[in-house]
Amino acid sequence: MLSYHTVSAEFERLFRSKPAVVVRAPGRVNLIGEHTDYNDGFVLPMALEHAIWIALRPRTDRRVMVYAQDMNDRAEFSLDGLERGHGWVEYLKGVAHVFQQAGYRLRGWEGVMMGDVPRGAGLSSSAAVEMATARAFSEVSGFVWEPLRMARLGQQAENEWVGVKCGIMDQAVSAAAQADHALFLDCRTLEYEPIPMPADVSVLVMDTSTRRGLVESAYNERRQQCEQAAHFFGVKALRDVRWQEFLERGRELPRVVWKRARHVITENERVLRAVAAMRANDPVTLGKLFNESHASLRNDFEVTNDALNWIVEIAQAQPACYGARMTGAGFGGCAVAVVRQEAAQAFMQAVKEAYRARSGLEASLFLSRAGQGAEVVQE
Ligand code: GLA
Repeated sequence: MLSYHTVSAEFERLFRSKPAVVVRAPGRVNLIGEHTDYNDGFVLPMALEHAIWIALRPRTDRRVMVYAQDMNDRAEFSLDGLERGHGWVEYLKGVAHVFQQAGYRLRGWEGVMMGDVPRGAGLSSSAAVEMATARAFSEVSGFVWEPLRMARLGQQAENEWVGVKCGIMDQAVSAAAQADHALFLDCRTLEYEPIPMPADVSVLVMDTSTRRGLVESAYNERRQQCEQAAHFFGVKALRDVRWQEFLERGRELPRVVWKRARHVITENERVLRAVAAMRANDPVTLGKLFNESHASLRNDFEVTNDALNWIVEIAQAQPACYGARMTGAGFGGCAVAVVRQEAAQAFMQAVKEAYRARSGLEASLFLSRAGQGAEVVQE
């Protein structure tokens, strides 16, 4: 795991002085509530210990200059007259753009950015970059850190500047998570509540090592189908459709749209039941909900691939496993399992081996505690 020391040493190597500020913002794994955020529904993600870090010092002019250590690359831009370009720096420029548009007066800075959130794996490394950037700006420019407002602006940067039509979940948990708690978020009202992780349970992230291109077009297609269903029921979002109403009238929908809606409506219900199970320290029920969620994402929402289905089946078959499901947008990337803590190491070994035998691929598995949301880190 990266630490204050590593990141500030890197800053010192490059700038020959100590950083004025060190910030970090975490990646996330979603426990349950998949493809519900853009339907005004409920989600229950958890921040990872893995994060994007920035060590920096303010500048007297209006330029931002960053070394991205992981990319071995450097970029620079002015806060005046921002223009779209290419590459990782667009996340930073997008954040600067939307914050200025929202009326924040930003100050320039220079620094080094480093991270240990696996990239392209569905663990929200881009939301972490956005929230770390926002945290950096809030510190050097002297405005108050309001997590959900910052998350909204981060999402807007991603939607409008980067051009990815994501929901609010990833930025929200990166901005607002509390260590050792998952974040229960109502994506309509943006009310949130930290929910303590159950005792004696480990959360395991299982990367299938598969990645699919064209995730965005498939994602946008799902969004449209959900909107079509909401329109049919005459409501703002699928969040508003009651189960009874769905059963009575839903059959008039095209079959595929009906399936998409059934996933979202049942998934919202599962989130509420998962929150209750966590509060009751009941990992057995929580695990069952994970399994049901995966089945629904596989059969109704159709966003899994073979690799995700295999790794989830293998995980579910382990005696130490309470439940497992794909996590994030889907189509490849990661799954998540809740496992009895004392058996976590053996579980990881068994899943890796069985997955290799089944798929011929190497999975990487890791454990994470529930991490802290975006923060300024002291020495
Ligand atoms: C991606 C998006 C999120 C959310 C998930 C699916 O991670 O960025 O907003 O829609 O997919 O739950």
